[in-house]
Amino acid sequence: MEPDATVAAVDAQALESEARSAIAGARTLDELDEARVRFLGRKSELKQALRAVRDRESGMTLNAARERIEEAVALKEEELRRAELERALSEERVDVTFPGDDLHIGTLHPTTLTRRVIEDAFLGLGYEVLDDREVETVEYNFDKLAFPPAHPTRSPRDTFFLDDRRLLRTETSPSQIHVMEAKPPPIYMVSIGRVYRRDEITPTRFPVFHQFEGLAVDREITLADLKGTLLHVMRALYGEQRQVRFRTHFFPFTEPSIEPDVSCPICDMQGCRTCKYTGWVEMGGAGMVDPQVFRNVGLDPEEWTGFAFGCGIERSAQLRHGISEIRPFWDNDLRVLRQF
Ligand code: PHE
Repeated sequence: MEPDATVAAVDAQALESEARSAIAGARTLDELDEARVRFLGRKSELKQALRAVRDRESGMTLNAARERIEEAVALKEEELRRAELERALSEERVDVTFPGDDLHIGTLHPTTLTRRVIEDAFLGLGYEVLDDREVETVEYNFDKLAFPPAHPTRSPRDTFFLDDRRLLRTETSPSQIHVMEAKPPPIYMVSIGRVYRRDEITPTRFPVFHQFEGLAVDREITLADLKGTLLHVMRALYGEQRQVRFRTHFFPFTEPSIEPDVSCPICDMQGCRTCKYTGWVEMGGAGMVDPQVFRNVGLDPEEWTGFAFGCGIERSAQLRHGISEIRPFWDNDLRVLRQF
């Protein structure tokens, strides 16, 4: 007599069909897992029966039922996973036509923008653009540029000295010397960079600013060449209607020295606060290279001629963009910078 085997076989069939309908009815992976635990888990009726079984036939019957239930769970799991994937693909689809997150893209600083206009204008004339040292010596910042020994700019009240011999350049003009010493004429170069002066910070003054310095050395260069060159650059900066005029001035390293004015880009010579109702604004300094400077670098002033000029870049940017103060150029306030 083997009553156990018969009971187990009947139980197995009933259990299997109960398990199958629970598996078929699972709508989610969680529900399927619940059914798995209920019918195949350690405490399930089936596992307990398997543990209790003593005869071979019942064991085979129960094990066969277990395998079929496991298979049903696996099939259902795959079905549910595929359905889940399909749902995700259709519901969580990325709409590439939707506007994206508004990430701010950086803008160029107005000083950089203006510097590039200047570089392009000179490159178009065949000039070499260079970026020179900011730490200079008294020799290059003053002596070789023919500053007299008692010139006020040589004072530590005006200039940042690092020690007796070295200082932060007060202008880009020392580049003239370096370039003339480095190679023989003809020279057509523009040097662009920061310069330093011991000024109080005010809305219109800052102890560091940028200059662009031009130098041309060749045979038979005249003041008219200087004027034409400046006109070209001023028109690149402020538009084709601009005019340039010269006023006499003095610099230790040019003779004659002049101060170039440009017709006011703000009011187009109608008269405004920027040009103080004169129609003209100052652009910096310029002149013909002084014979003494040629001698200081070993060039014969009878053979070579040249002109030089230096202008502020922030000042140029102010005129281009109608900015009345220099301080915003150094504040790095994003509300200001994002406007460019
Ligand atoms: N270096 C002068 C200044 O800073 C400008 C200048 C440059 C004048 C070249 C003449 C020639 O004021």
